[in-house]
Amino acid sequence: MSTAKSQKEKKVTTHVLQEMKSRGEKISMLTAYDFSMARIVDAAGIDVILVGDSASNVMAGHETTLPITLDQMIYHASSVVRAVSRCLVVVDLPFGTYQGNSKEALTSAIRIMKESGGHAVKMEGGDEIIESVERILSAGIPVMGHLGLTPQSIYKFGTYVVRAKEDAEAKKLIEDALALEEAGCFAIVLEKIPFKLAKMVADKVNIPVIGIGAGNGVDGQVLVIHDMLGINNEFSPRFLRRYNDLYLGIKDSVERYITDVKSTDFPNEKEQY
Ligand code: KIV
Repeated sequence: MSTAKSQKEKKVTTHVLQEMKSRGEKISMLTAYDFSMARIVDAAGIDVILVGDSASNVMAGHETTLPITLDQMIYHASSVVRAVSRCLVVVDLPFGTYQGNSKEALTSAIRIMKESGGHAVKMEGGDEIIESVERILSAGIPVMGHLGLTPQSIYKFGTYVVRAKEDAEAKKLIEDALALEEAGCFAIVLEKIPFKLAKMVADKVNIPVIGIGAGNGVDGQVLVIHDMLGINNEFSPRFLRRYNDLYLGIKDSVERYITDVKSTDFPNEKEQY
C-alpha cells in the first residue's frame, strides 16, 4: 500500500488532529447529517464530520437550531456513523440538553456516545459551561468547544452579525478559549469573529482551532455542507465559498425527469423488463 493511500485510510482521532496542528497541517471539517452524504464526504478524505445542530435548519427547515431534540441528533449521528470508515465524527449537543446542570449534560453526552456511536461531542459556550465540560470529559468523552457566534444563543445576540469586535467580548472569548483548553477540550470551533482575534486564539492555545467565518489564521475550517454545495442557495454570507450549485443541478434534473415521464420518453424499451 502506498504511503499516500495508507495516510488517507488512517483513522482520524483527536490525537491525529493534535498532531496535525503541531506540524501545521490544516484540518478539514464539514457537516453531514445522513448516511448517503456522509459516505461521499468520508470517501473524499475529510478529516472531521460534524453532525451539527444546523440539521435543525437545513434538514428540518426550522429558523434556528433551538428546536432540534437529542433523539433527532442521535438519529442523524447514527446514520452518519454507519457511513464512515476514516473520519472523526463529532456530534452537537443540542440546545437545552446541557445548559441546566452538569449531571444532565453528562447524561445527554452519554446518550449521544452510546446510541449514535459518535466519537466526540461539541458544546457551545465558555466559562458558563465549564463544569459540564469537565464532567463529560471525566467520563472519557472528548469535547469540542464552540465560541464566537454560537447559534444556540441567537435570541440573546438578537442578530447573526460578527461577534467579539469590541474589546470586552474579545477578552472574554480569549479567556473562554483558555478555560476550555485547561478543562481538556480537544479542539475549539470559532464562528464569525474577526480573523486577527481568531489567529490570536489559535496561537495562544495548543489545541486545534477550527474556524467558520474566522479567517485563515486558524488550524482548520468548517462549513455547512448544504451551503458549500449550493443546495441551500438562500444563504450567502461573506465567509462562504460555494463549490457547486446543486440547487440548480438538482432542480434541472427533476424538471427533465418530469418532462420525460409526461412525454412517455421514460422508461424506454431498455429500461423495462
Ligand atoms: O451546527 C453546525 O453546523 C455548527 C457549525 C456551523 C460549526 O455548529
